[in-house]
Amino acid sequence: MLNPQLNDDGELKHLLSIEGLPKRILNQILDTAESFAGVAEREVKKVPLLRGKTVCNLFFENSTRTRTTFEIAAKRLSADVITLNVSTSSQSKGETILDTIDNLTAMHADMFVVRHAQSGAAHMIAKHVAPHISVINAGDGSHAHPTQGLLDVFTIRKYKPEMHNLRVAIVGDVLHSRVARSEIHALTTLGVPEVRVIAPKTLLPQDVEKLGVHVYHDMNEGLKDVDVVMMLRLQNERMAGAMLPSAQEYFKIYGLTSEKLALAKPDAIVMHPGPMNRGVEIDSAVADGTQSVILPQVTYGIAVRMAVMSILAGN
Ligand code: CP
Repeated sequence: MLNPQLNDDGELKHLLSIEGLPKRILNQILDTAESFAGVAEREVKKVPLLRGKTVCNLFFENSTRTRTTFEIAAKRLSADVITLNVSTSSQSKGETILDTIDNLTAMHADMFVVRHAQSGAAHMIAKHVAPHISVINAGDGSHAHPTQGLLDVFTIRKYKPEMHNLRVAIVGDVLHSRVARSEIHALTTLGVPEVRVIAPKTLLPQDVEKLGVHVYHDMNEGLKDVDVVMMLRLQNERMAGAMLPSAQEYFKIYGLTSEKLALAKPDAIVMHPGPMNRGVEIDSAVADGTQSVILPQVTYGIAVRMAVMSILAGN
C-alpha cells in the first residue's frame, strides 16, 4: 500500500506518524536535526531555508512544548508563522476544521502543524489539502506524536550513540499515550534491540507485544540494567472511569524514585515528554537529578522540528 506520507519519489511529503516510515527517512530527519542543533549557539539564530513560506500552527488541544518549539523552529528557518488561537477563532461559531484549513490555504499557507484530540485528524487534513501543502501531526488523540518520538530518539542518540546496543524501558500509561506509540515505532525501526514497556495490565494496549516490545508489570524486573528510562504521564483526560486505585498507590508501585532508578544501569538516562506530574509518575529528586535529560529533550525538539519542516519544504 502507498504510504500517504511519502511522495512518488519516496520522499517525505507529510509527517503523520512514525509507523510505516522507513529507517532511511528517520535517519534523514535525525541527521538533518544534527546540523540544526548548532544554530541555537549562533548570535543570529536563523537560517533562510523557509523564507517566503507560511507555517500555520493549529492547536485544537492544549500544548506548551510542542506548540512553542514548532513556532521557534519555524522562525529560526525564517518562515512567516501564524499560531491560530483556536479558542478565539471561528471554530467557536461552528466552522469545520476543513473550512478553517481552506480559509488559511486561501491566505497562502504552505504548511500546517496540527494537534487535535481526535486520532486521525492530521491524516484527514493531509488528504484534503492541495498538493503543494504539507501537514505535520503535532499529536492526534492517543494515536501518534511523531515529532516527539523523533526528538526522543534524537536525545537518546546524543547520550547513548550505540543505538544497536541499548535496553530502553517505557514506563506508565502506554494505553493512552500517542508518545509511547511513536517512541516504540522509532526505536524498533532504528534497530534498538530491546524495548520494554512497564505498566499495570489496565494501562497497556491489547496485543502490545505485536509492537515488538517486552512486557513487564513489575518495576524491579523491568528496570533492571536498562540504559534509558522513559516515563509517561497518566493521561487522565483519556481514561474512561477509574483504571487505577489512586495516584498515591500508583506512585508507590510505578513512580520513578531514586531507589527504583538504582535498578537501571548506573549511567542510565531518565526521560519524560512532559507535562510531568511530580509525585505521580516521577519523584522530583529524579526529575531534577543528574541522570535526567528532560530539559535537553525540549531543547532538541527545536532542531528536530526544524529538520522536519526543512525536509518537507524541499518536497
Ligand atoms: N510533549 C508534549 O507534547 O508536550 P505539550 O503537550 O506541552 O506540547
